[in-house]
Formats: sequence, C-alpha cells, structure tokens
Amino acid sequence: MLWIKKASILSLVLLAGLQLAQTRAETIAVIGTGNVASALGPAFAGLGHDIVYGSRDPGRASVQELVTRTEGHARATEPADAVRGAAIVILAVPWDAAEQVVAGLGDLSGKVLLDPTNPRVIGPDGLRDYAFAGSNAERIQQWAPEARVVKAFNTMTADLMADPASAGGAVTVALAGDDPAAKAVVAELAEGIGFETLDFGPVRYAHVIEGMYLVWGNARRTGNPFEYFFRRPAD
Ligand SMILES: NC(=O)c1ccc[n+]([C@@H]2O[C@H](COP(=O)([O-])OP(=O)(O)OC[C@H]3O[C@@H](n4cnc5c(N)ncnc54)[C@H](OP(=O)(O)O)[C@@H]3O)[C@@H](O)[C@H]2O)c1
Repeated sequence: MLWIKKASILSLVLLAGLQLAQTRAETIAVIGTGNVASALGPAFAGLGHDIVYGSRDPGRASVQELVTRTEGHARATEPADAVRGAAIVILAVPWDAAEQVVAGLGDLSGKVLLDPTNPRVIGPDGLRDYAFAGSNAERIQQWAPEARVVKAFNTMTADLMADPASAGGAVTVALAGDDPAAKAVVAELAEGIGFETLDFGPVRYAHVIEGMYLVWGNARRTGNPFEYFFRRPAD
C-alpha cells in the first residue's frame, strides 16, 4: 500500500514538474516599453517566462532599466527580432501605431498576439468614444491573418496589471479571439498573475470589450471609478 502511495505522490510531483516546465518554456515578446509593457513584462517574467522587449530604441536607459527589473533571461532588441523566437507577442503600443508596428514584425504565423490597445477619440465633453466602427483587435487580425489575436487587459490600468490585488478582489480580464487555444494561453497568463478571465467569444465581439474600456474610462473621468468583477452563476 505504501508503495502505491509513494508512486502516486511521485507521479503528482512529476506532473507538477512537467506543468512547470511547460509554463517556464515560453518566450514572450513584449512590443513597446511603456506603461503596459512595464507592468505585464515583469509580471509574466515572475511566472517563469522569458521576456524579450521589442523597442524602437533598445539601448535607451529606460529600456535597459526595465530589462534589469524583469526577472529571468530578459533582454531588449528591435521589435522584429523580439518576435522571432517568441510563441506569444504582446502588442503594448499606441492603438494608432498598431498597423505600422504589426507590419514591421515579420512572420507572426501561429503566434498568440495579445492586444491590449484602446482606440478612442475624446469628445468636446472630455468623454471617450469609439474611434471607428468595429475593433482594433479585428483590424489587427486582418493585418496579421496567420496570428492568433486575443483581446485582453484593455479594461484596467497598467498599475492594476502590475498589482492585481490592489483592487480588493479578483478583477476579470475579458477575452475575445477566434482561437480558443490562444485564449486559453492568455487566460493562463492572466490567472497566473492573479486575475480571473471571461471568454467573450470570437474576435468580432472585441468591440464590446473595447467599449467596456470607453465606459470604464469615462466613469473614472467623471469621478465614479469601478473595476470589472464578473461572477459566473454558482453551479
Ligand atoms: N496605460 C494604461 O493604463 C493602459 C491600460 C490598458 C490598455 N492600454 C493600451 O495599451 C497600449 C499601450 O499603452 P501604454 O500606456 O503602455 O503606452 P505608452 O506608455 O505610450 O507606451 C507605448 C510604447 O509603444 C512603443 N511604440 C512603438 N511604436 C510607437 C509609436 N509609433 N509611437 C509611440 N510609441 C510607440 C514605445 O516603446 P519604444 O519607444 O521602446 O519603441 C512606447 O513605449 C495602448 O494601446 C493603450 O491604449 C493602456
């Protein structure tokens, strides 16, 4: 009996080791070195992933400082070089630079392309509005048809990305994308750093999540800030 117990403990340990090995194996290219990159890069490095920042100026002191405070084998290089060996790419760039940035990344076939961008125009009343019909996530999927685009992380501040516990509960990351396996990869990353996730469906629903940013940002502007805590019905 004892050997059965020992064998099952051993297999559990092996399984956990295997899962850890799988998790640790990913290289994540973070394109951009601003607020979102500086939050998600170090956070995902903390899960054991290797982070490569893609910057227009990888030698800049602020970029090197970001590399230094990112655990593991972090480095910075040009964007196209950063994505080359990465299975996951985070497009942490201004929404209106996304087309040009994606065009410069080269072959994105099969890569998970996490899109946190928030297109918006600011009206005369100071409120955010859609910048165009549809969503940036859909446009990015069109610009990179072989990539597996996942909308995520656009409905919160970069500060919250870096410190999920500061919201006082597990904030929900809304996901949209056409590839369920890619959404599962992003969900695992988000949940790994302390968020909950909810699948909003294919990428054609990303405009809803981008709209969630608009009302969330407007509420912050008008002094009624909130965070998205979604709850599934109990079984
Ligand atoms: N800030 C937030 O709290 C927040 C929250 C949710 C979503 N978002 C969205 O996430 C995206 C990134 O936001 P962020 O606040 O991290 O932006 P940011 O601080 O302005 O950083 C954007 C980075 O993109 C890179 N970049 C590449 N092409 C660029 C170009 N043509 N012009 C300017 N920068 C360029 C730059 O890195 P290099 O100079 O190193 O190339 C820059 O550091 C945005 O689309 C934003 O809407 C932001």
